[in-house]
Amino acid sequence: MITARAHTNIALVKYWGKKDQKLIIPQTDSLSLTLNEFYADTSVEFRDDLTADHIEIDGHVVTGHVADKVINFLNIIRKMSEKNSYANVISTNHVPVSAGLASSASAFAALATAASKAAGLELDRRDLSRLARRGSGSATRSIYGGLVEWHRGTDDLTSFAEPIMENVDFGIEMIALLLNTSKKKVSSRQGMQSSVETSPYYPAWHKVVAHDMVAMKKAINNQDIDQIGHIAEENALRMHALTLSADPGYTYFNGETIRAIQAINDLRSQGISCYYTMDAGPNVKVIYDRKNRSKIIEYLGKLFGQEKLIVSKPGPGVKIISK
Ligand code: DP6
Repeated sequence: MITARAHTNIALVKYWGKKDQKLIIPQTDSLSLTLNEFYADTSVEFRDDLTADHIEIDGHVVTGHVADKVINFLNIIRKMSEKNSYANVISTNHVPVSAGLASSASAFAALATAASKAAGLELDRRDLSRLARRGSGSATRSIYGGLVEWHRGTDDLTSFAEPIMENVDFGIEMIALLLNTSKKKVSSRQGMQSSVETSPYYPAWHKVVAHDMVAMKKAINNQDIDQIGHIAEENALRMHALTLSADPGYTYFNGETIRAIQAINDLRSQGISCYYTMDAGPNVKVIYDRKNRSKIIEYLGKLFGQEKLIVSKPGPGVKIISK
């Protein structure tokens, strides 16, 4: 059995929309930070004695929609490797508490790495990144550690991620503020498609991202955490404006999300700089310089409870951890 470990990533410039839904070619570039606290370990073996793929996630055998996504992904690998047997897949999500932060990014980055190796393929990181993309767009970036850029490209060959800075040697950190762990109602897959098809603001998103990618890379180059946080926050708000402006309109925010946004604004007005970003769910991630960590924890801990805060540093890229 081959086991791979992949960490999740949080986008600082979001991916929100596909050009090609089958190949998962995005409409725009995106840029993320891989986190050290959240990861998936996935083990795969192809076995001639199996009569179907067997998929186990966090101790439970999965069926239905989730299993179908994994089986479709295994079919891509079977085609690439000409392997005809079924696979045994066992995956465990490592999140500090049952946080609802298990992500498709770490899941498919780990699966791509373990399953391709188990099928006898020797893929370099660019090809692993392209392969992980076929499972879930954000997984493209989780092949690498640190700050990572996904080039949207135009087809399967040209849409892949690359590291900008794998070993992040300045003080950027993220706190995940866990506000709601129930399952999301609109998946990111459905949500982004409805934004592409129905939001009158979608054309503007192309311009927003093109601008933010340039500005974000400059801010990273200058190790300017305030600038990184500011651009990420604006970018997240503009992404969420695409959900509000879709038809039917919807939002991933709940009341607690808004309360967290206000708390971060309050911290800023007290002179403690920190910024927020949100993905396809109500949880808020706080971006800050580690020198401000204790003050931010103290303030948010009082409002939301210390147990709701998970501090994360930049994390590494995917690794084979046993074979
Ligand atoms: C808001 O990667 O989950 O987290 O490609 O359909 O599997 P699929 O979507 P997914 O979308 C992630 C959306 C996001 C922004 C981001 O990670 O860039």
